[in-house]
Amino acid sequence: MSDTILEMRSITKEFPGVRALDNVSLSVRRGEIHAICGENGAGKSTLMKVLSGVHPHGTYAGTIVFDGEEVEFKDLKASEKAGIVIIHQELALIPELSVTENIFLGNEIVRRGLIDWTEARTRTLDLMARVGLSVDPNTPIKNLGVGQQQLIEIARALSKDVRLLILDEPTSALNEDDSENLLDLLRGFKGRGLTSIMISHKLNEIAEIADSVTIIRDGLTVETLHVEDSPLDEDRIIRGMVGRSLDNRYPSRTPQIGEVMFEVKNWNVEDPNIAGRMVCKNSSFNVRKGEVVGFAGVMGAGRTELARSIFGRSYGIYRSGQLLLNGNEVHLPTVDSAIDAGLAYVPEDRKVHGLNLLDTVRGTIVSAKLKKITRHGLLDQHEEYTAAERYRKALRIRSRDVNDGVTQLSGGNQQKVVLSKWMFTDPTLLILDEPTRGIDVGAKYEIYELINQLVAEGHGVIMISSELPEVLGMCDRIYTVCEGRITGDVPREQADQETLMRLMTTTTAAA
Ligand SMILES: Nc1ncnc2c1ncn2[C@@H]1O[C@H](COP(=O)(O)OP(=O)(O)OP(=O)(O)O)[C@@H](O)[C@H]1O
Ligand SMILES: [Mg+2]
Repeated sequence: MSDTILEMRSITKEFPGVRALDNVSLSVRRGEIHAICGENGAGKSTLMKVLSGVHPHGTYAGTIVFDGEEVEFKDLKASEKAGIVIIHQELALIPELSVTENIFLGNEIVRRGLIDWTEARTRTLDLMARVGLSVDPNTPIKNLGVGQQQLIEIARALSKDVRLLILDEPTSALNEDDSENLLDLLRGFKGRGLTSIMISHKLNEIAEIADSVTIIRDGLTVETLHVEDSPLDEDRIIRGMVGRSLDNRYPSRTPQIGEVMFEVKNWNVEDPNIAGRMVCKNSSFNVRKGEVVGFAGVMGAGRTELARSIFGRSYGIYRSGQLLLNGNEVHLPTVDSAIDAGLAYVPEDRKVHGLNLLDTVRGTIVSAKLKKITRHGLLDQHEEYTAAERYRKALRIRSRDVNDGVTQLSGGNQQKVVLSKWMFTDPTLLILDEPTRGIDVGAKYEIYELINQLVAEGHGVIMISSELPEVLGMCDRIYTVCEGRITGDVPREQADQETLMRLMTTTTAAA
């Protein structure tokens, strides 16, 4: 048996007007964890879609040798049959169906023409044990957290006799515990001889877990590093990705903080699904002019619910509380009224709340404030183009031009489009919910610079982030949230990971 389980040789893949991959080669050793790194739009997901038959044989040039044999997959099913299973960047589970139904969907156990659900449930329990998950197999997927859903995807992969597991940004939506859990699982699989390929922008995790790293830049293979030759540290990977070192991950800023511009008082919101359960419990906080205010908390702490309930009551049932803008009480019962008042909210889940997948880049960017470019009732196409083009350049959105459909963009570039859309509304208060999830290190820096620019102009920014280094690197003041309650209000000078972690897990309200 050869040491190499997979060879992709000179893979070239073109989309109309874009060469996504240009003679890319990838060699993966049997039993290793092989990471693929590169900037947003570099071609990572495309390479894995070529490998797994999503882009079928005939639509790309080059050869793939899997386990000593040249393979020509015509679809996903064909690659799965050979033992290659891919877990995509965007989870593909069906929210309304149960765990068991999702695992065996399209792969049902049939006995005498009937689906054998009893057997399916038994096997589900066994698979769930292998990924360390204990939930009722009848639970609908929508009732599970993202971390659990990710494990279900892996359980589904295991149900198919996987020999090469591909994970495209598996931890981007996971909190630290769930991520660590997933990495442990991969280590365990490796111990049993399974080969995995993992795409990730979390370079610390790659440094921790990978045996090899292949770096792709602009559709070209830059290099492959092996852990036995030199340690895989973050700085080394960054140098390969962006061609230079990044001395500073966070741009510097001298805060110019003015008076309170936005205030929330005794805010109470009820869960829309569970009567009597409060998702915001008497929350009070404020944002000052020129200030970046962080919201730290574990996943499910209620930060997104709080942000959305403030943004035009777009989540939950409002029970009581006040909003004040520049000292005057405002009522913002709808998203339109919130936008008119100068609020903007960049959602964490771009597919559900941020993007219309049928729209173009230019159409999306202007969509939240059409009246800004409407003259005498008509949309000014030229202004639309100019505005979109400005953001495309500022955030280095990788697309042919602004007429591209948003589905044609890579995951990270879609996120940049959503961010542009809300920047375009000229918000006086910009609320960012996990703004750098799935964003490469270079582009993160550009987003941070835009945030700094906004506050330098006297606007306020709220930043919800699960990455504590990011919160500490960017925010002037940090609120901690636990179980729907604000439990701390910490100025940057007094903030460190330990203090925040402690407040993120206490249930006593801040004084
Ligand atoms: N279906 C498609 N049609 C047209 N262009 C596409 C399509 N899929 C990908 N591309 C283009 O191919 C290039 C590579 O995209 P890909 O999704 O592989 O990037 P990526 O490295 O995975 O980025 P990210 O880190 O943002 O997920 C991008 O320029 C993208 O716009
Ligand atoms: Mg991708």
